[in-house]
Amino acid sequence: MSAKWLENAVFYEIYPQSFYDSNGDGIGDIPGIIQKLDYVKSLGCNAIWLNPCFDSPFKDAGYDVRDYQKVAPRYGTNKDLKELFRKAHEKGIRVLLDLVPGHTSEEHPWFRESGKDEVNEYSDRYVWTDNPFARGDDMPFVGGEMPRPATYIVNFFKCQPALNYGYGQLRQSWQQPIDAPGPMGTREAMKDVMRYWLNKGCDGFRVDMAASLVKNDEGNRKTMEVWKDLAGMVHEEYPEAVLVSEWDNPERALSCGFDMDFYLDWDQKGYNLLMRKYKTAPHTMEISENLSYFAADSGVDITDFLADYLPKYEATKDKGLFCFITGNHDLLRAEYGLTERERRLAFAFVMTMPGAPFLYYGDEIGLRYQVLPSKEGGYHRTGSRTPMQWDVSKNLGFSGADHDKLYLPIDHAEDAPTVAEQEEDPDSMLHFTRSLIYLRQNHPELGNYSPFRVYYAEKGSRMFAYQRGGLIVCVNPGREETQLKVAGSYRRIYTIGHAEGVGDTLYMGPQSFTVIQPV
Ligand code: NOJ
Repeated sequence: MSAKWLENAVFYEIYPQSFYDSNGDGIGDIPGIIQKLDYVKSLGCNAIWLNPCFDSPFKDAGYDVRDYQKVAPRYGTNKDLKELFRKAHEKGIRVLLDLVPGHTSEEHPWFRESGKDEVNEYSDRYVWTDNPFARGDDMPFVGGEMPRPATYIVNFFKCQPALNYGYGQLRQSWQQPIDAPGPMGTREAMKDVMRYWLNKGCDGFRVDMAASLVKNDEGNRKTMEVWKDLAGMVHEEYPEAVLVSEWDNPERALSCGFDMDFYLDWDQKGYNLLMRKYKTAPHTMEISENLSYFAADSGVDITDFLADYLPKYEATKDKGLFCFITGNHDLLRAEYGLTERERRLAFAFVMTMPGAPFLYYGDEIGLRYQVLPSKEGGYHRTGSRTPMQWDVSKNLGFSGADHDKLYLPIDHAEDAPTVAEQEEDPDSMLHFTRSLIYLRQNHPELGNYSPFRVYYAEKGSRMFAYQRGGLIVCVNPGREETQLKVAGSYRRIYTIGHAEGVGDTLYMGPQSFTVIQPV
């Protein structure tokens, strides 16, 4: 059983570098986030996922952790983070930190020790081969960097050596089973990292690359064993804490202790069919044909998406939450491929589906994707990580620093979106997003665990209708009017565009959305 607060949790993802700079050094910080908590609350969000804020050389924007127990000085201090938990809790907001259990930075002291020639406590904390010219047995490896006469496995970039949780299938003499002393030591160390922050008041973790722990692991079986142990500790010692995995496999994630799993999609076969079904040209990032369901002219129906989503949802609906996101720091912003109207429909969908929804900072104002040179290992992701835009003052209210000192540039367009301007405009994306979150919060049928059932989905039809509890949600992302048979009387409780019931037919105008409640 997950913590009760998860039932109506709506998350806001904050990229700390880019949210609000309170001390004028050009980069966002934790006191800045504290100052903006009322804004987060005003959106209707009651939980935050904070991207990594720990000490790091920032070769992967902080996913290369150098010290798990120290806030990166550029963001503030441990005391500031504790204060963030306290202030957030006062306002009824939970805070998840980002746990990176699969790898550290190559500058982590564990790794510096592990790479020494003489055997020590950390020798087996990482995955090392047994000679300086050995290859990685299908895993990327690095040699020639450390005194230890061996190569080591990396988990992501070159700067991120893989922590040793052992191997599922042992194929090489240097591979260890998951219960060998080295892997067991890694587990205990990671439990201590989690305890450290949970004791300071955090409410759980978003877990980076959760499936990556055990190598050569057919069906993630051994990785799941490890998670049962790690998550088991969290749930036993901190029953109010929750864990969300970056796994995109809810059958696996939710059966080994995660409360939630993200619906991501590295193959464009599921989640990405909704808002990001297109290719981009290298460098220019120009979009080729947009075949996203929510693109008005794509002509695409919802059936391919459902073929991916439904089996996952059905298999896990009683086990935890499979979560939709508006975007995240790794994806192109929804804004890049969709017009505002298209996004409104897409976000209305996200906010009326099961699972805890995650709103990526800035999506609520239509913060734009910018084509930018790579920063801190961001590559094409960099353009989705630019500063939040608060008002029309210097640097659009993000920072008092000179503009060339900013972590990333703000949007220099004349019509660059800002919170302040959109607060003044009742028709803005900001007010719209808020209204959706309020809709969800005010109708338990739209809650995270409330049942979902397809009401109408046909090959060749742009219409999609689904039931949440007693409510029926209908969306027509196309440019033609569509019709749906709905028997009985009902009232519309939320509508975008034109929707009208005549007799037993619901007419849905072009690019429309409605939620109806039988009366
Ligand atoms: C997934 C994170 O979301 C991404 O930003 C990071 O680069 C990789 N994991 C490696 O930690």
